[in-house]
Amino acid sequence: METVNQTTGKDVLLPDDTIEAFRAKAADTPHPRELIVDLLRAIQDHHGWVPDAGIELAAQTLGLSPLQLEEIATFYDKIYRQPVGRKVIHLCDSICCWTTGGEQVAELLRDKLGIGFGETTPDGVFTLLPTCCLGACGDAPAMMIGLTTYGRLTAEKIDTILREIRQQID
Ligand code: FES
Repeated sequence: METVNQTTGKDVLLPDDTIEAFRAKAADTPHPRELIVDLLRAIQDHHGWVPDAGIELAAQTLGLSPLQLEEIATFYDKIYRQPVGRKVIHLCDSICCWTTGGEQVAELLRDKLGIGFGETTPDGVFTLLPTCCLGACGDAPAMMIGLTTYGRLTAEKIDTILREIRQQID
């Protein structure tokens, strides 16, 4: 994955062919707004997060205003407008998880990672964020990392999950 343009030295937010594909889709739909989340996710998948330049690029690509993009980007807590670690842990803090030990799980995660909510581990691997219900209430307490939801969290299970993810990354 190219992250810096070798000629300009600027960050590559999205490959040119992907931008062109979104531009073509936007020209082909009466409602380009429906492409916003997909385009922001594409920028995030490529760049790691969505900087201001990503908002501007997405706005130009879809023919919308930066404000229209920003509204969506700041509504969804899984669009990151600041740098994050390579894996973002979204720990549910809604009612079912809260009543089934969510606070203890939060404490465990803070202890094991050595960071608080909104922070990233010094090695850049994990960012810890709270989130609202993940739709896994039957398996509360729950968290999501990437596209995977983990439920019925215990200290042992959290150890295993974090260890396995670190092994995958190394
Ligand atoms: S309340 Fe936590 S998954 Fe629903």
